[in-house]
Amino acid sequence: MPLTPNHPWRDRLPKAPLDLESTAQKTGVQSVFDWIELFNGFQAELPEPYAEIDVLDGPHADVACEALRSLKRNPRLVRFAGVDMAGNRLWNVNPVLKEIARHVYPGTALDLGCGAGRDAVWLAANGWEVTAVDRLESNIETLRKLRQAYAENDPIHWVQANLHEYPPEHDFNLVLLHFCWDPQYFELAKSCVKPQGLLSVLAHSSTHVRCFAGPRSAKILVPESLKTEGFEVLCTEEHWARDRHFVSVVLQRH
Ligand SMILES: C[S@@+](CC[C@H](N)C(=O)[O-])C[C@H]1O[C@@H](n2cnc3c(N)ncnc32)[C@H](O)[C@@H]1O
Repeated sequence: MPLTPNHPWRDRLPKAPLDLESTAQKTGVQSVFDWIELFNGFQAELPEPYAEIDVLDGPHADVACEALRSLKRNPRLVRFAGVDMAGNRLWNVNPVLKEIARHVYPGTALDLGCGAGRDAVWLAANGWEVTAVDRLESNIETLRKLRQAYAENDPIHWVQANLHEYPPEHDFNLVLLHFCWDPQYFELAKSCVKPQGLLSVLAHSSTHVRCFAGPRSAKILVPESLKTEGFEVLCTEEHWARDRHFVSVVLQRH
């Protein structure tokens, strides 16, 4: 893929505070319990635990913040008008994706085990033609909602399938295996990267397990195990991100 350090699509989705006044008007929520119920339905859209959630100040803000705190979230009141909740992204972009998008032109991407689809939606909104696969119907449903809210006109092809039985129809410029580590899925991911294409693997590290006693060892990535014929390891990094320590490996197919 050609290098393009500053292409115009980069990080097209802004991050914005929650505008709870319009939410209150649309949904009629009043009490702390109403807000808790509402936030529970949108867990997948909230930032990761411990991240600050900016809440636009207004008559409902205090009650909504109380609800967020009781869900162990970290709200912060801000005075900032002129944003609408539906048009703005609420989560932090995966830093590995931002770095990849800084260096390559958008092409086709495959997100294996896409979860609620944040990576897929961000890529689509930044010019990529995305195929997103997950076995859980509820995740595909959330992905559809996210796409509707944040990347309505951008192509995402979603597939509800088990990766053990999923045959990709063609090869991709970029394949993601993010927090869905399994050696078998890695074989699948490798098999559908185009020549010169990239494969990004993110997974919990052994440091994470030492600190938190989970997830189980089968889900842990040892970066050295990814050295594989036909691919060059472009970078291996380890990161702390609040409550997790993870390994990021980006490979390029010859
Ligand atoms: C921890 S989530 C990661 C989601 C997303 N990739 C991310 O980084 O936020 C793992 C996802 O992989 C999916 N998954 C795990 N095994 C799968 C399989 N065999 N087939 C399809 N999806 C699978 C799960 O349903 C879940 O949504």
